[in-house]
Amino acid sequence: MADRPTIFVLNGPNLNLLGTREPEIYGTDTLDDIAGRLDDQARAAGAVIDFRQSNHEGHLIDWLHEAQADGAKAVLLNAAGFTHTSIAILDAIKAITVPVFEVHLSDPHQREEFRHLSYVSMGAKAVFAGHGAKSYELALDVALQL
Ligand code: DQA
Repeated sequence: MADRPTIFVLNGPNLNLLGTREPEIYGTDTLDDIAGRLDDQARAAGAVIDFRQSNHEGHLIDWLHEAQADGAKAVLLNAAGFTHTSIAILDAIKAITVPVFEVHLSDPHQREEFRHLSYVSMGAKAVFAGHGAKSYELALDVALQL
């Protein structure tokens, strides 16, 4: 049987605290809740999810490289706070040919001015933001259709 397409779902700093972290902004779903739903959604489409979280910038960069080396179909990336600061993550997105979809629970454009700049957007194929945990599901839906 041919390998099923894999979609990496990479989550940046503080997202391990989802569920209790500023629930009025990010909702009450935990990262495990989100992972479980994405897993079902991918499985139903004959794909698999590789779901990861790190508080360290370099891990996200290594995992973007790994997505390329492994022949991943796409990456969903919620780089969290690094979205607004990390040229190194932008460089990693540009260094790979795997399409990267930017995901946010909140809509950074409706929040503080410092969140309006996204380095990730400069390399991402599309942005899904402001729909809470659903942002991930919408992004996965598009990624599965590639
Ligand atoms: C976030 C938005 C970012 O501005 C923030 O730093 C996060 C979470 C979101 O999913 O809404 O940590 O990426």
